[in-house]
Amino acid sequence: MDHFAEPYRIKVVEPINLISREEREKRIREAHFNIFNLKSQDVFVDLLTDSGTSAMSDNQWAGMMLGDEAYAQCRNYQHFEETLRDVFGFKYFIPVHQGRVAENLLFSTILKPGDYVINNTHFDTTRANTMHKGGIPIDLICKEARDPHAKFPFKGNMDVAKLEDFIREKGAGKIPACFMTLTNNSCGGQPVSMENIKAVSAVLKRFEIPFYFDCARFAENAYFIKTREKGYENKSVKDITREMFSYADGALMSAKKDGLVNMGGFLAVNDGELEQKITNLMILIEGFRTYGGLAGRDLEAIARGIYEALDERYLEFRTKQVAFLGEELIKRGVPIIEPTGGHAVFINAGEFLPHIDKGAFPGQSLVVALYREGGIRCCEIGSIMFETKDANTGTSEYAPYELVRLAVPRRVYTNAHLMHVALCMEKICSYKEKLVGFEFVYEAQYLRHFTMKLREKAAVGAKV
Ligand SMILES: Cc1ncc(COP(=O)(O)O)c(C=O)c1O
Repeated sequence: MDHFAEPYRIKVVEPINLISREEREKRIREAHFNIFNLKSQDVFVDLLTDSGTSAMSDNQWAGMMLGDEAYAQCRNYQHFEETLRDVFGFKYFIPVHQGRVAENLLFSTILKPGDYVINNTHFDTTRANTMHKGGIPIDLICKEARDPHAKFPFKGNMDVAKLEDFIREKGAGKIPACFMTLTNNSCGGQPVSMENIKAVSAVLKRFEIPFYFDCARFAENAYFIKTREKGYENKSVKDITREMFSYADGALMSAKKDGLVNMGGFLAVNDGELEQKITNLMILIEGFRTYGGLAGRDLEAIARGIYEALDERYLEFRTKQVAFLGEELIKRGVPIIEPTGGHAVFINAGEFLPHIDKGAFPGQSLVVALYREGGIRCCEIGSIMFETKDANTGTSEYAPYELVRLAVPRRVYTNAHLMHVALCMEKICSYKEKLVGFEFVYEAQYLRHFTMKLREKAAVGAKV
C-alpha cells in the first residue's frame, strides 16, 4: 500500500491507559465476559464500534457554539434540513436522537403483524425493531457475500432474482418496505453498487413496494462506488450520493457514523401522509418535530458533519486506514472478510478457532482474548448476536459466520494504535488452540449481547 497520512492534524488529545494484565483479567471476569460491561477507562484501544465515537472537527465544535435552543423551528434545524435536502434530496427530514428511533417510528407506522421487511442484511436493531412490531425480517444478500475470501467488490448487494421470487411468493401487499443497508454492516461493512441499487429499485417500482435506505455509512458506500464501479471514477462523491438516493422513497440514518457526530439521526420520506403520521407519534415519544430528542447545537454538528464526510481526501484516508489494519492481519495469518469494508475489519473467528463449536461462540472467545492480550475492546458479530431459536422445537439456527468486528472510529486512532492490535493478534496466533468457548449464564429475549452474562467453558480434556 502507498504511504498515506491523515488529512488533518491533532488539536486536542485524550489520554488512554493500558492497565496491567492482572487488572485486565480481573475486569473481564467482573464484567461477566461481556465487553459492554467494561469501564471505558479500562480499555486501551476501543474498537467496539464506529458509532458515536468520531472525533468532531474544529468546524463542528465552532458550530456547537451557534446552537439555537428555541423549542420550535430553531435556526439549526433549518440548516440541518437544508443540508440534508442538498445531499439526499428527499422532501421531509425528521430528526431523531439515534438511528433505532427512526426504525421504531417507521415500523410502528407502517408494519402490521405478519408483514415482511426485506433487507440486504438487517442490522441487529433494525431486525429487533421489525420483530418487536410483529414483522418478519428477511435477508436477501447476494451469493458472493457467502464466500469470505471472494474479492467481489460489492458484497453488500442484494440478490435481485431472489427479491423478485420472494415478492411473487408472498405478495407485495405483505411487504410494506424493502431496505438496503449502506454499507452492509452485518455483512462485513461491504458496499452496494449503483447497478444493484438501480436493479432493486426497478423491481420494487414494478410491485409498488416502498424502497428505503438504512444509510448510516452512505459516504463510505458512495466512495466505494467511485473507486470500484466502472463509469463513476470521475464523478464526485456528492453527485454519486445524490444519484444513489434518487432511487429511494425514504431513508433512515444513524448520524453517529457518517454524520461524524456523537449523537443523532434522522428519518427521511417523500410521502406527506406518512410524514404526518410519524410526526404525531414522534411528538409523543421523542420530541417536537424540529428537534427530535436533540439540542439545536447537535443539529448544527450533524449539518456540518454530513458535508465533512463527503470530503474525498478524508474518505480516501479512512478507507485506506481500515484496509491497512486488514493487511497487517492477513500478513500474520489471520483470516478476515475480504476485501475490507468501509468501517471495520471483520475477523473470521469461526475459521480462526475451528476447535470451538458455533454453539460455544468462537467470536466471543477471540473478543475476550483481545482484551486480555492488549486491552482491546471489540465485538462479536456471530451467533451470540444472530442465533435464532424455534419457539416450538427449541432448535437453534446459528449465524452463517462467526465474526469479530474491529470497528475503526473516525478520525480517532493513528496507525500506531492499529499496529498494537495487529501485534496482539500475532501473539494470540501463537496460543489460539488453547482458547475456549463460552456459555450463557443470563440472556435477554432481544439484543441479548448488550446485557448477557457468560461463563467460560472448560477446555476439552481439562479438569475443572
Ligand atoms: C446499519 C445500521 N443501522 C442502524 C443502526 C442503529 O443506529 P443507532 O445505534 O444510532 O440507534 C446502526 C448502528 O450501529 C447501524 O450500523
